[in-house]
Amino acid sequence: MSYKVGIIGATGAVGREMIDLLLKEQFPMVDLRLFASARSAGKEITVRGTTWKVQETDAKACSDLDIVLMSAGGSISRALGRELQAMGCLVIDNSSAFRMEPDVPLIVPEINAQDMIEHQGLIANPNCSTAIALMGLYPLHKEFNLKGFFAVTYQAVSGTGAAAMQELEEQVKAWQKGDPPKPSVYPHPIAFNLLPHAGNFEEDGYTDEEKKMYRESKKILNLKELRVSTTCVRVPVFRNHSIAIHAEFEKEVDLDQARNTIYMASGVEFNDNPAENRYPMPIDYVCRGPCGVVRLRRDSFFENGLALWVVGDQLWKGAALNAVQIAQLAVK
Ligand code: A2P
Repeated sequence: MSYKVGIIGATGAVGREMIDLLLKEQFPMVDLRLFASARSAGKEITVRGTTWKVQETDAKACSDLDIVLMSAGGSISRALGRELQAMGCLVIDNSSAFRMEPDVPLIVPEINAQDMIEHQGLIANPNCSTAIALMGLYPLHKEFNLKGFFAVTYQAVSGTGAAAMQELEEQVKAWQKGDPPKPSVYPHPIAFNLLPHAGNFEEDGYTDEEKKMYRESKKILNLKELRVSTTCVRVPVFRNHSIAIHAEFEKEVDLDQARNTIYMASGVEFNDNPAENRYPMPIDYVCRGPCGVVRLRRDSFFENGLALWVVGDQLWKGAALNAVQIAQLAVK
């Protein structure tokens, strides 16, 4: 069987990867329609030798689609997601709009594919840092029962979208010419700098981005008592997030067992050879499906703790690839 598929937000950083991945994975499609804002209507996008004309986003134009991948931000998802679901489309939403709604499964296929068995036509894709962090943590949780974790993220500008990637490039060019940087997407220069700030600050001092790691991890792992504290940092890396994690477990941890567990897990590569200065870095994981796990060690703070470093392609496992994997599972 082949499906009519639409992408809303097709001109964006994630949307473009969605097109490429659907083609690369040979997703069974009889039709692929690309949608973005009115600004992009009529624009042409060529991927793998095929050219599409972008249409202005409109629920009616999507009504006969079987599957709609949405990545145009929370407000567009909130405006259209439920309407498209009611029209009978399977909506896979990359925004945070529906992630915590009880009738919406929040899925990382390697972790909780079973949660989407009885989906009702709307499935959420998790926050990018959360998905990548859990790819490293989940195999360890299965072995030692996760109690909680601290995470510090090193988030690439791709997570903010195509305009932020362009801003980093322009600031690097300006620096080469000796011109001052002109921040626009971010409140401060991002080139040769970092911002201890991703998302919007809330009253308690955390950002909404930091709280996503807490809330979404609980839902994906189905661990109501899980404790999580995160600091999200935006770094001048084009794509791919890295996360330093210090995790506490219920069971006594054994380092060899932990290494073996990660080694055997699907969707992660255990790439640990610090003695040879070998460790996965953001530049190694561009357009790569698996996430890299490294620096696995006994944590010196927790009694039953492990520290690790996880790297993944924000635009792939953190967004487009995870969404395409969900679509693949759904049509199975
Ligand atoms: P456009 O390129 O026409 O602005 P990114 O996350 O890389 O910033 O991409 C955001 C995506 O969401 C783009 O495809 C963008 O389209 C799309 N988008 C932004 N605003 C709207 C809107 N009002 N309606 C539909 N798509 C939108």
